Amino acid sequence: MTVFSLVALPIIFLSLVVRYQKEIRHWLWNRQKKNHQNECAKPPSDLKPQPIKGRERYRVMMDIRKLDAQNWLTLDKNYMDEHRVRDALLREKRDQVIQCLPESVDACHEALEEVSNFLSQRFPNMFETTMYNSKPHIQNRMTGEMFELGGSVPNENLTDALEAAVRLTMEDLSILMRNEDDEYYLAASASLFPTGWTVDQRIGWTISRMHEPVPLWHQQVATSVSKFLVRLTPNSPMERSNYFVEVKSPNENLFDILYRPGSLCEKKLFNPSPDQIIIRRERQTFRRLPRTGAILFGVKTFLTPLDELPMQELENLAKEMETWPENVGEYKGKNVWGAKVKEFYRSRTQVEKVEV
Ligand code: HEM
Repeated sequence: MTVFSLVALPIIFLSLVVRYQKEIRHWLWNRQKKNHQNECAKPPSDLKPQPIKGRERYRVMMDIRKLDAQNWLTLDKNYMDEHRVRDALLREKRDQVIQCLPESVDACHEALEEVSNFLSQRFPNMFETTMYNSKPHIQNRMTGEMFELGGSVPNENLTDALEAAVRLTMEDLSILMRNEDDEYYLAASASLFPTGWTVDQRIGWTISRMHEPVPLWHQQVATSVSKFLVRLTPNSPMERSNYFVEVKSPNENLFDILYRPGSLCEKKLFNPSPDQIIIRRERQTFRRLPRTGAILFGVKTFLTPLDELPMQELENLAKEMETWPENVGEYKGKNVWGAKVKEFYRSRTQVEKVEV
């Protein structure tokens, strides 16, 4: 090697680096992003929905338990598919899926901060809190989205903070606040996967009014729910589970399965096949926000087609639905799917007998 090449080669190399620094940075960033996406392909927390218990007697129950704190918010393998649906809903059905009353703005900001702190600590491969333009932000490495944290920014819309929070989570999020009669009401909500209602219809409603269509709610559970909400403290977060039965048409896509503002069981879908009957479970979480004192209510939706339900749960569903009073069965759409569930349960029982 000559003296010339010893001097010239590093100079050429350095000038190429300087000349193409933008392209090199872009390439490095893309490589990093790809690595993260590969890591993200694995579901980091695959929390299963609560099984159907097969209760002997029907009663509307609170059935609350202490929150499993490390699974307050969860991520599973459906994250990206559901995020695409959430993104489409926030663009195409905005007013129906997200509303914030002016008094909820501080609580919505606090909710975004809590969500961001939790996600970046629990799932550091997917979420990172970082400084950008000297302001704190959260970056979602799976979607490439970035949101500013820490208080309102000029020209901000009322819904910006709550929208950022539900773009990060798989959960729908609502803010409950207390009115002058000491009743909790829906002060803000991003409910993208509703079951027979939309946010624009019910924003501002009290919890009691919201449950008017639910048979036996007022007789059996209304007072306990009011007491529970008043007593909830920042140190005693709770959770509960609920299930619905949904009937889908044969080629329905994920958007229409998850976004159900009308009925979960349309009568025109009478006589559905087992794969068209979906057990739609909700995991609901309740947290009192320490700074503003509002309640942050989260709902994660899980979908299981009837033909994928474990035998024990199918048996429990078949048993439980027989205990429902007439008006409860009607509310839950049993006339659309009930006979089919029984028929499917009987056929599975026959198959199991033959196999034994
Ligand atoms: C401990 C608290 C709560 C309990 C025990 C509870 C219980 C229930 C029950 C039993 C149903 C009927 C579902 C079924 O039987 O299949 C229902 C429906 C519903 N709940 Fe709750 N819920 C609670 C909190 C909330 C909160 C905080 C919200 C606020 C968004 C909410 C919104 C609704 C809505 C919108 C429906 C559907 C009502 C309809 O059919 O129009 N619930 N809830």
